[in-house]
Amino acid sequence: MSSDPELEKIEKLFKPRTIAVIGASRNIAKVGGTLLKNILANGFEGKVYAVNPEAKEIMGVPSYPSVLDIPDEIDHAVITVPADKVPEVVEETGKKGVKVVSIITSGFKETGRADLEEKIVEIAKKHGVRILGPNIFGVVYTPTNLNATFGPEKVLKGKIAFLTQSGALGIALMAWTAMEGIGLSSIVSLGNMADIDPIDLGKFFEKDDNTKVIAMYLEGISSGRGQQFLSEFRKISKSKPVIALKAGRSERGTKAISSHTGSLAGSDSMYDSAFKQAGILRANDVEQLFDWAKMLASVDSFDLKGKGFVIITNGGGMGVMATDAAEANGLPLLEMTDDLKQQFRKSMPWFGSPNNPIDLTGQASANSYESAIKTALENDVITGAVVMYCEVGFLDPIELARKISYSLKTYNIKKKPVNVVMLGGEKTREAARMLDREGIPSYSIPERAVSSMAAFYRYALFRTGKSSLQ
Ligand code: COA
Repeated sequence: MSSDPELEKIEKLFKPRTIAVIGASRNIAKVGGTLLKNILANGFEGKVYAVNPEAKEIMGVPSYPSVLDIPDEIDHAVITVPADKVPEVVEETGKKGVKVVSIITSGFKETGRADLEEKIVEIAKKHGVRILGPNIFGVVYTPTNLNATFGPEKVLKGKIAFLTQSGALGIALMAWTAMEGIGLSSIVSLGNMADIDPIDLGKFFEKDDNTKVIAMYLEGISSGRGQQFLSEFRKISKSKPVIALKAGRSERGTKAISSHTGSLAGSDSMYDSAFKQAGILRANDVEQLFDWAKMLASVDSFDLKGKGFVIITNGGGMGVMATDAAEANGLPLLEMTDDLKQQFRKSMPWFGSPNNPIDLTGQASANSYESAIKTALENDVITGAVVMYCEVGFLDPIELARKISYSLKTYNIKKKPVNVVMLGGEKTREAARMLDREGIPSYSIPERAVSSMAAFYRYALFRTGKSSLQ
């Protein structure tokens, strides 16, 4: 538990002892019905209450006419009543002593009703209630099995916290990340950010042991919070990687933002330099955001040792593509010494290449990979490795995935960064998902793996205060 009373309230969003759904519907097809169903279906650890003036019980949960009637303290209340009823409901949560409310309801600043939004903020402030939203799809926190959203039921557990200013994108990504094997500690819909914003949430996730990486989709920063955003995130990103996808790069995109969440977008170059100052990695698209996030969530050390990275492959062409990508992304590849070449020669036939990329050839076996990975992990001069596989008939991708996983568990004592490319068909895709589920980041093409390793490298330089490998 935090000693900061405001941070304690934010904690209640994620770790409430009790939660009430105000506007819990008897109709499962309504937002308030789906949301209650999701809380129950995920096995949330705390107590659940419903508030609905028409019902005594909904889905087996006791229901009360008002939050004031619940015979228990309420930590977190989710509000799913229509906009005109929200002020009264917020007033009641205040009187009840609720710590934090997440307001799902739309129809505030984003539709020109800034007055209604100001009104609920004023009421909440008077009572010391913190607000997430309004205009959100809700909150997920997998360590407490909390899914207080009207999105998909299942989210894959993991170590990435995802904050999003786009509701539709967030909901879509709940299912997409699970399919892609990307594990999340949390998903937070930011909505209009009438009160709680990424700064408050960043402070929580910085201290949260269940989160290793903070990933954000942002359209803008709350007005008047720019300087604070910079100074707080400079601190947060020194202890945990922060990656942001900031939309509105183009002039038209910037205009589209103001009609979406009503945020002030600001110039794109201003965000670029602000992110750099704050140590925030800026991703170009959703795929890159999660590519980088799963790479950074996979590593246990950001100490940069050695003199460069190696690429291990069974396909010469893939090796060339990875080399080009390394140069384009500023990832330093190791210049191989004769001694190191001799060591890698043991992992390949005579026609292989021990230069970097290390080409094990198309006839590489799972044992060849194990031997090359062992050499890379045990050699102090090597900083990290990108291990690549092109599907070939005689090396089963599942067998290889098991061997890679075994090799990392057995030989990666120095906690070096390693990621994997699995390029091929259905079975290779299945092998890739296996690796992801074990926390070994896998990618479908060399460029994605190299870009993610380069993101690790840039972050590690920032964190350690180095400018390059020595
Ligand atoms: N306290 C508690 N419950 C109340 C209430 C009150 N003061 N007033 C009404 N309710 C109950 C209703 O009886 C209803 O339950 P029922 O279906 O069992 O009768 C439930 O709350 C919902 O009210 P209803 O009037 O049916 O609203 P709705 O479900 O059609 O719409 C919202 C409510 C919040 C979903 C809708 O206004 C909205 O904002 N939708 C957009 C949500 C969204 O997209 N958010 C952004 C995502 S990114």
